[in-house]
Amino acid sequence: MQINNSIILAIESSCDDTSCAVLKGNVVLSNFTANQAIHQQYGGVVPELASRDHQKNIVPVVHKALDESGVKLSEVSAIAVTRGPGLMGSLLVGLNFAKSLSLSLGIPLIEVDHMQAHVLAHFISDSAQRIPPFPFLCLTVSGGHTQLIKVLDHFKFELMGQTIDDAVGEAFDKAAKVMGLPYPGGPLIDKFAQKGDTHRFKFSDTKLPAYDFSFSGIKTSFLYFIQKETAKDQDFIKNNLQDICASYQHHLIQILVRKSKLLLHETGIKHFAISGGVSANSELRTQVKALELQGIQTYIPKFEYCTDNAAMIGIVGYYKFLKQEFSSLGISPLTRQVF
Ligand code: KG4
Ligand code: ZN
Repeated sequence: MQINNSIILAIESSCDDTSCAVLKGNVVLSNFTANQAIHQQYGGVVPELASRDHQKNIVPVVHKALDESGVKLSEVSAIAVTRGPGLMGSLLVGLNFAKSLSLSLGIPLIEVDHMQAHVLAHFISDSAQRIPPFPFLCLTVSGGHTQLIKVLDHFKFELMGQTIDDAVGEAFDKAAKVMGLPYPGGPLIDKFAQKGDTHRFKFSDTKLPAYDFSFSGIKTSFLYFIQKETAKDQDFIKNNLQDICASYQHHLIQILVRKSKLLLHETGIKHFAISGGVSANSELRTQVKALELQGIQTYIPKFEYCTDNAAMIGIVGYYKFLKQEFSSLGISPLTRQVF
């Protein structure tokens, strides 16, 4: 349902995706993302290369999003942009571009927190996704974050638990790198896991109290496991890829789901959402859906709103526009999370 006719042009450039979206009210008219293939060969995002590619991509990406939406620049009500968290050089490209647009068009600038945007992606009006009622719990899992959040309203978030070291996306990507797979490895592990045996191999777990997570030790134990097995059989990875991926993925997803269930049980909240790049993972989606059988209403974003995208920046822009909450042109990027 569209409840306001503001036209928001949104820009996201916090890491290695350059994205632009146009929203009319809470409806996405276009959402276009340019991915940067250059990082594949390095096994991770190289910040300097990322900011250079953002500079190359930003103008064509904005043109493409505008063309697809059928909206003219003169019709845009405000510019929403990611202020952080993210890589300084990457954020600077999007933020400076957004400031210039705002200044030249004489329209407001709206700063957006990337992590809030992953959560509010659930509020994009789209027949393919349900909108959660408040309060709900959200598991936000990406390349840089693993958080359990109690969402009280669009702007009131309570952090209930988080990783004390690496994010779960990092645990996927580094394991993929150890196996010689290109970056980002998460989607590839997911793909190879489809036909593998989830119980064939066992990995270590770091048990933390309450709702915090730790993935650093698991990542290291995976590295030692691969080193040990390839010392015995140099074709170990090639011959067992599906089972390794299935077992490792299952291990990571079990940890996420176990903590989430504990928090749902202890808070008594019956609405559970997932967000962020790792929420595209098929085993996580299946296990979360299964919670419905235990009386929990679950909210799983459309694939295009899981990984980094500007539509989620636009929906936060929309809610801030309703409150007329605008930013000064003097703001600088915030590389760390603020809520
Ligand atoms: O939210 P996102 O696009 O960027 C950050 O803000 O970090 O998340 C990227 C992360 C990467 O670690 C990537 O490997 C992971 O999400 N990812 C997946 C899948 N799709 C993306 N991990 C597991 N399974 C997937 N299908
Ligand atoms: Zn993200």
